[in-house]
Amino acid sequence: MRTWLVTGGAGFIGSNFVLHCKRRSTMRIINVDRLTYAGNLMNLESLEDDPEHIFVQGDIRDRDLLRELLNRYHPDAVFNFAAESHVDRSIVGPDDFIQTNIVGTFHLLEEVLHYWEGMSGVERKEFRFLQVSTDEVYGSLGPREHPFSEKTPYAPNSPYSASKAAADHLVRAYFHTYGLPTLTTNCSNNYGPRQFPEKLIPLMILNGMAGKPLPIYGDGQNVRDWLYVEDHCRALHLVWEAGRVGEVYNIGGSCEKTNVQVVARICAVLDELFPDAAHSPHSSLIAYVRDRPGHDRRYAIDTSKIHRELGWKPEETFETGIRKTIQWYIENPSWVRSVQSGAYREWILKHYTISDRKQS
Ligand code: NAD
Ligand code: DAU
Repeated sequence: MRTWLVTGGAGFIGSNFVLHCKRRSTMRIINVDRLTYAGNLMNLESLEDDPEHIFVQGDIRDRDLLRELLNRYHPDAVFNFAAESHVDRSIVGPDDFIQTNIVGTFHLLEEVLHYWEGMSGVERKEFRFLQVSTDEVYGSLGPREHPFSEKTPYAPNSPYSASKAAADHLVRAYFHTYGLPTLTTNCSNNYGPRQFPEKLIPLMILNGMAGKPLPIYGDGQNVRDWLYVEDHCRALHLVWEAGRVGEVYNIGGSCEKTNVQVVARICAVLDELFPDAAHSPHSSLIAYVRDRPGHDRRYAIDTSKIHRELGWKPEETFETGIRKTIQWYIENPSWVRSVQSGAYREWILKHYTISDRKQS
């Protein structure tokens, strides 16, 4: 049976990826997550009784733990999702971003390299290390500039994107210097079920439903390229399966929208679903607030490489994806309540058997 080590698999994209892989085939997943505020084991509730999902609360900076897990479970691929991921938090406190995104990735690469060097034959040839990265490493686009391609020079503008860029460079170096079979993906903004409501889309959905203000930074004309998370998961699986070793693949929704457009669409769907809400029309809740410092103006991804080489393209449109996402938040009030109250952090102890436990 295939065994994968996934880091950060209790977060938004990592948990969607673990669930996606489990739906596709029988496989064992070793899921290492530090369970920061963004890690939520409720995301993995449906795997509670699955003996082939082994959750380990641990830090990717903990080399002893990584070595022990690699030697004990012998994975044939490692997917690195673990990161501090929120730009606003990186502006207020960059330390954790440097620690996890740079030092953590370095420690993981070191341990994976030693593990891979000890492999032989087909196992060694087929092993993959996949780094899950972001389009933010490319910086900000002007209104008429061509979308980011894999050849766009790195120009990160926030402590978050700078830390992800540093990690990507390390991954590249481990391929070129030591031959570690790496793959790197740079993806645009994801949205969908299980996203922590500090990010634009879940925040607007939940505030809109509760009749709270919808804060738009600056003039709201910043552009993001939105991708439904399940499409990202399919792309990652394909890159693992057929991507060329040492290569970078950009992933995006080909779906550029200003923040105002995104919020307006969410408001329109909420008006349709809750026509009698006291605060309808929901757009009356929009409040323009102070801009994010160093706010990147536009991101957009040129997906021609992954389309040409691997045949990938998104299946969801923004219209179908945003409806599914809003529906998910409506249908999962206990997830929402526990995230908003912080109770999800205690939920771990009550409901989940953690096979191994390490605190950083
Ligand atoms: P998230 O913040 O929801 O999840 C991150 C997970 O990593 C959490 O479960 C957290 O507990 C865990 N983690 C943090 N520090 C850790 C450490 N030191 N050791 C082990 N686990 C740790 O993030 P996300 O949105 O799911 O993003 C996942 C990855 O995808 C990140 O690397 C991010 O840079 C990248 N990415 C995100 C997006 C997006 O739109 N969200 C787009 C492109 C790329
Ligand atoms: O592009 C990929 C990146 O997308 C990922 O690498 C990051 O991990 C992920 O957080 C995301 O970064 P952004 O900064 O683009 O996402 P965020 O949801 O924080 O913001 C999206 C846009 O909405 C951005 O222009 C800022 C704006 N915004 C955000 C919030 C939270 C608002 O106007 N109001 C808000 O309250």
